[in-house]
Formats: sequence, C-alpha cells, structure tokens
Amino acid sequence: MVNIPVTLSTDLKKKPTIEEEGSLGFGKRFSDHMFIMEWYDGEWHNPRIEPYHRLSIDPSSSVLHYAQEIFEGLKAYRTGDGRIVMFRPDANSERLNNSAKRMCMPTIDVDFNVEAMRKLVEIEKDWVPHSDGTSLYLRPTMFANDEALGVHAAKNYVYFVICSPSGAYYKEGLKPIRIRVEDKYVRAVRGGTGFAKTGGNYACSILAGDIAAKEGFAQVLWLDGEHLKYVQEVGAMNMMFIVNGKLLTADLKDTVLPGVTRRSILALAREKGLEVEERDISIDELIAYAESGELQEAFGTGTAAVVSPVGELCYRDKHMVIGGGEIGKLTMDFYNTLTGIQWGRIPDTHGWVKEVCKA
Ligand code: COI
Repeated sequence: MVNIPVTLSTDLKKKPTIEEEGSLGFGKRFSDHMFIMEWYDGEWHNPRIEPYHRLSIDPSSSVLHYAQEIFEGLKAYRTGDGRIVMFRPDANSERLNNSAKRMCMPTIDVDFNVEAMRKLVEIEKDWVPHSDGTSLYLRPTMFANDEALGVHAAKNYVYFVICSPSGAYYKEGLKPIRIRVEDKYVRAVRGGTGFAKTGGNYACSILAGDIAAKEGFAQVLWLDGEHLKYVQEVGAMNMMFIVNGKLLTADLKDTVLPGVTRRSILALAREKGLEVEERDISIDELIAYAESGELQEAFGTGTAAVVSPVGELCYRDKHMVIGGGEIGKLTMDFYNTLTGIQWGRIPDTHGWVKEVCKA
C-alpha cells in the first residue's frame, strides 16, 4: 500500500455542536483536511492529505470549458458501539472508475482509493456527527486540468476527496416529498452519460428542478429521453415503487445511475422475500396503478437521500397521492434496516461496512 503523507492543519475550524447537528442540512460545511493527488505523465503523483484549501486553476483549465469531470458520494458513520465506519467504499470506488472510463479519464486502484478515504476519515473522525440521521458525507471528485482549449481527453487531472458533516438531504427529512414527472426536458439519452456520475448530468437537470421547485416540488422524476414514456430516476436518487406488494424499479440501462443504495435495497428486498422487478415501467402503467389503488408506496434511494418517501407524484394534470401521503410500512422498514446496518445497530451480514477506526 502506498504511503499517504499527512500535513495536519494548524488552524482547526469549529465543529458543529450537538445542537447544530439538528440543522446541518446537506453539504454546507467542510472538515479540516482533504485528500488530493495529481495525474500527469500517465500516472498519479504525490497522493497526500493536507489542510482543506482552495484550488488554483488556470482560466483555460479544460474542466471549465468541456466539463470532463466525475464525482462520487459516500458516507462515514459513528456507530453506537464506538466505531467509525464507511458504507461500501469499494462499490463507490468501482463506480468512480466506470464513470472515469466513460469520460476518458484515468482510473484509480480501488484498494488505494478506499485506503485514502479511510485514512482521511480517520484523521477527521471528530467531524463525524453524533446525532441520529447524521453522517460525514465524502465527496471524491476528479477533474481535467489541461491548460488548453482543444476538445479531447486531457493529459492532466486532479483528484480530491473532501468531507462534509451532513444531515437530511431534503428539508422534509423523512416526511414524504412531492415529485413532478418531467414531460419536457430530459436528463439522459441512449448512448450518453446517464449511467456515469458526471457533473453534466446534474447541470442539465437544474432548469427542470428549478421550475418544479417554484411549484412546490422537491425534485423531478425523469422519463426516458427517447419516448418520454418510461420512468428513470430522480437525479439525486433512484426510484422504487411498491405495487401489489412487489417492488418495481427501472432496470439499469446506460441512462440510469447504478446507485449503491439502490443495489443495497434490492438485496435487502430479495432477502425479505419480496418479489423484485427491474424493468421498463411506463408512466401510464404507474398512473393506472395509482388510480386502481395498487400503487402502495414510492420511495427514492441514494447516498445523500438514503431512503426518501415520496407522497405525491404529479404528471401533467394527474396528481397521484401515494399511501395517503404518509410514509409506507416497507419504506420505513427499508430505512430502518439500511440505517441500522450503517449505524451498527443491525449486524452487517453482507460485508458492506468497512471499519475506519475506533471513535
Ligand atoms: C449522492 O447521493 O451522493 C449524490 O451524489 C446525489 C447528489 C446530492 C447529487
């Protein structure tokens, strides 16, 4: 394992107090240190942990012009039995590499990346919040940094990991959110970058999200880019529907992000004996289930969003209230089981939890 030198900050920030942990929100404060390394001459150089700092890049830096950029999101937790753990850092590192390949960027050895994040979290362990529903969110990011305006894969990259003590992603917390089904704009098309975690997928979603927010919706549910017919994902989360006791979710094509939380929930659902269907689900099929009362629950899954209940879906003039707008039983069970494993209250029989250090 490569040695990762550490330079500790001499100017530590004030950490959130227990009272402040209740209103952390998502991704607003950042810890004292970051991991960083640079790619040039065909390899990664100088991996190190140093005080959190601003980056200085040239105005011609390729990421600013052509968006060759990828990122990840994963969390570290403080368990009840006095440990700091990360949830499935290997899965996130593998996905980072899949995104890198799609975006013509260099990959990172998975074991090395996991160790870099582990070491960073160990140094930042006092930043892992204590309260229920909180965690230390890690944001690994890679960007192209050639100082040139030609459109091609860059030869220089920066990779860093920063940490943010975070609470609920939605201001609603576990209160079911309202989602608008987007029928004009699209997020991803066949052959595009929808399955990669790259900034452009999020940039192109902002307009629709903004319009929906003005109408009181937390997010939009994207339909497929070809027919505007099949449900895909919600940008910050994959979507799951409980219909007649079965779990339905969009299958993974190159237009849907392969969520680590999605994969975990599907494994838990199959273990529970729930029938799971990963397939094309048309919006008309969903409306029919809602109208017949067969659509019992809906929820989103994601690292930031965890398991987020959805109480209402609106498509054009159709307003589908799901489960009376209340959180459903299976949704609550999935939330409790997943967070139970993450916070060490339920044994991890899957090998998903990686110990970072003692708290
Ligand atoms: C995550 O869940 O980690 C994400 O990256 C979603 C998001 C906040 C963009």
